[in-house]
Amino acid sequence: MAKEKNIMEKIAHANQSVTKGIDPKDVKHWAKIYIMGKVYEVPADLTIMQAMEYAGYRFIHSCGCRAGFCGACSTIYRMKGEYKLQTAMACQTRVECGMYLVQLPFSPAEKPIYSVTKEPYEGNSFLKYFPEIARCVSCNTCTKACPQDLEVMDYVQAALRGDFQRVAELSFDCIQCGMCALRCPAEIVQYNVSQFGRVMYGRNGFPENKALKKVVKATEKGEYKKDFKNLLGLNMKQSKEAYKKQQATKAKFLKGGKK
Ligand code: FES
Repeated sequence: MAKEKNIMEKIAHANQSVTKGIDPKDVKHWAKIYIMGKVYEVPADLTIMQAMEYAGYRFIHSCGCRAGFCGACSTIYRMKGEYKLQTAMACQTRVECGMYLVQLPFSPAEKPIYSVTKEPYEGNSFLKYFPEIARCVSCNTCTKACPQDLEVMDYVQAALRGDFQRVAELSFDCIQCGMCALRCPAEIVQYNVSQFGRVMYGRNGFPENKALKKVVKATEKGEYKKDFKNLLGLNMKQSKEAYKKQQATKAKFLKGGKK
């Protein structure tokens, strides 16, 4: 049985089209796609981001982590013959035959300044900093635009009710790609609303994590200094081994095993 790849090996494998190139002889299936209106034939198992690089585009923006976390690679596409515009993260979505693609640049959005430490934990703070949420007409366009499938409209409604916990829970996986705000007819910047909800709930409403507090205290006391020093002294091979070991411990811990 083939050995299962760890996360770093999986990322390296996923990006080998970029780092090592692809020999067309090895490609079994091709997809015809359109990038900024121009047609290209690309290997069918690439992500949109890899396909664009295969087609010769070089990302100087709209690309960050390549792993679905940073929200930089917002993409809009339409399938040939369909009227509906769809959204996707280019690093997380496979190309399909007939995709008409366009990368979205960063779009400027208003972000209020607030102090998390000074702001009272009161529901009406949402309206104080984001009065535009009162314009929400519940059209659900933001939810439909979210490539993370978050219930965006529901968290905007929760913000209107002043419910920090609901906003934080519903928006927890938001990566701030900005698609919701771009499509919103009421010009709400949903991702900033949710960020405010999360930081306020995290500081004031979320139950204290005793284990984390203990670790922070121990770190401040310098209890991990020796471990950090050892880690910094490892060579590449030793670092990989240490990482594998740590991942195995984590997997065991998450399955309910002992450390
Ligand atoms: S590049 Fe970071 S989410 Fe796609």
